[in-house]
Amino acid sequence: MKRVLSCIQPTGDLHLGNYFGAVQNYERLQASYDCVYGVVDYHSMTMPYKASQLRENTWKMAFYLLACGVKMENLFVQGLVPEHIELSWILGCVTSYGELTRMTQFKDKSDQLRESDKDAFVSLGLFAYPVLQAADILIYRADYVPVGKDQEQHLELSRNIAQRFNHQFGKEYFVHPEPLFTETPKILSPADPNRKMSKSLGEKHYINLFGDEDRIRKQIKSAVTDTGDTPEGEMSAGVQNLFALLKACDNMDAYNSLMDDYKAGALRYSDLKAAVADAVVNLVHPLRENLAALEADKRNVKAQIQANSAKIRERAQETLREVREIVGLIPMK
Ligand code: AMP
Ligand code: TRP
Repeated sequence: MKRVLSCIQPTGDLHLGNYFGAVQNYERLQASYDCVYGVVDYHSMTMPYKASQLRENTWKMAFYLLACGVKMENLFVQGLVPEHIELSWILGCVTSYGELTRMTQFKDKSDQLRESDKDAFVSLGLFAYPVLQAADILIYRADYVPVGKDQEQHLELSRNIAQRFNHQFGKEYFVHPEPLFTETPKILSPADPNRKMSKSLGEKHYINLFGDEDRIRKQIKSAVTDTGDTPEGEMSAGVQNLFALLKACDNMDAYNSLMDDYKAGALRYSDLKAAVADAVVNLVHPLRENLAALEADKRNVKAQIQANSAKIRERAQETLREVREIVGLIPMK
């Protein structure tokens, strides 16, 4: 069975971009692949954070993933599998400084830090982040990685690192992981459809999946449809985004009928927005119930997450034993 791995940072909320770009796929892929999904807390230490908040957000994201249908036995917390860090060091030694400086997410995030403070602290961790991501993937020998479009460059780097490692040590050891995209690999911000939906842009730029239902409706109803820069005869990015959401919610009847209206030049944006708001709220409703059930059993669920991470850790340890041998480290007693 082919292997799938993906990870998500515990940054507080889970938004529609995360869901339709990645998490919905996590759930679906479990039927046909051997899947492992991680909440990557070590990654979240690369931007300014508070220790107590990180711990809380890590649990929160693990609960969200379970509520979205990730099976307990496929879930781990990265901080409970420290072998990722060891592999990251080893892979860092076959990664060049030059290729890391080309990573656009590093540029974006370091610019973002400097925007608020021109002397902002940009850590080695933020720079080395893509190497840790490669370690997350390679440690489980994943064939496929379901992610949003923004992760394409990091995936390419992971393949280059795998290839360089294999070449340097003369052994086809690591597989070359391929990204898996959904039909909606890039959901746009409702407030500015020229940018992708993202938490880092601020609250109005993302729709929180487990947020207040009224807020979800309001944000969809006030989504920007015309930005004034759409070429004649083309559908604007904001309207395309609304149609994409409707399709992602699998509401094809509404999609087809509203698309017919659009083609006939008779689409009312208020109808499209109302349909999208209903579709999203209906989709989220059962997920919300799942979350409430998990929260009612919090202690037990947390204990299971820890126990399962320990089990998944054994797979990582097996890879590390082999890697240590390949790279010339002395075996552990
Ligand atoms: P992050 O919150 O940045 O850790 O992202 C978690 C997952 O969601 C990754 O696979 C991203 O590629 C994906 N993702 C983030 N933002 C979007 C978006 N606006 N559209 C589609 N996928 C996204
Ligand atoms: N870098 C990814 C993001 O920002 C999160 C991530 C970390 C990841 N490790 C990964 C995604 C491994 C896929 C596979 O969204």
